[in-house]
Amino acid sequence: MSSLRRPLVAGNWKMNGSLAEGVVLTRNIQARLVSLSAASHYPSIDVVLAPPFTALAIISEQLNLIRITNVHLPPRSLAAKHGEQTQGCLRLEIGAQTMSEFDQGPFTGEISPPMLRELGVRWVILGHSERRTLCGESDIGVGLKVRAALRHSMTPIIAVGETAEQHAAGLTIETVVAQTQAALIGLQAEDIERCVIAYEPIWAIGTGNSETPENANRTMLAIRQSVAGLEPVRILYGGSVKADNAAEFFAQPNIDGALVGGASLDPEAFCTIIQAADAAGQVFQRT
Ligand code: PGA
Repeated sequence: MSSLRRPLVAGNWKMNGSLAEGVVLTRNIQARLVSLSAASHYPSIDVVLAPPFTALAIISEQLNLIRITNVHLPPRSLAAKHGEQTQGCLRLEIGAQTMSEFDQGPFTGEISPPMLRELGVRWVILGHSERRTLCGESDIGVGLKVRAALRHSMTPIIAVGETAEQHAAGLTIETVVAQTQAALIGLQAEDIERCVIAYEPIWAIGTGNSETPENANRTMLAIRQSVAGLEPVRILYGGSVKADNAAEFFAQPNIDGALVGGASLDPEAFCTIIQAADAAGQVFQRT
């Protein structure tokens, strides 16, 4: 980690859990964070939970990001209020796992940025490899969604990563640099600064075989150098991040946090990862 960038840990729940399980998982995470924060002040770390769409409203209310009975309140003022309450400490917020690039219209099954904003959502994962592979999302489509997120004051977490074949052929850096450039092309420096990139080798997702921290760091440095203005941008590692390997990733200078899948469904593991990010952030803030 670097003192330049605020650590970020995001939990991607994917299509898992019932509503009740989501609420309990969130409650367990909140409870653990309260007890952990007694030992640490969480000086500057963002934590994002990305539940399925159907659970966003209830979990947003659980985190005091919205009042469901009062959703006509402008989301911005609620967000600002929330920011004031949590300034200088851990911020626990919600994110969506994808979204439409359009604000409204005949797009059956899609969810728009304003719909998400209304639920207190300020983060959105875009271009996850499962969306690219299973739903045919293209580099160009991801770029459009990045612009839509920024237009609606949401932080896009842009996922990039190479397949096992590209990895074996030595095409890792070429692949992720092309994906990053396609997502950010034409953006002004002040917009680039508002993005987050997640490097997730596809072969490492959900397999238990993570990339080594050193190799991930090297690839992430290449990502950082591939577009002007990425120095202040957080780049996360994702792909089988667990309680027992997170600290090794966070010890690398170009790894600013993690996008966590499977382990984010286990409150103990997820909070251990948050704690590791917090500890690494504090070390770098002192140096
Ligand atoms: P994993 O998933 O942590 O289960 O490998 C990461 C992701 O898909 O974002």
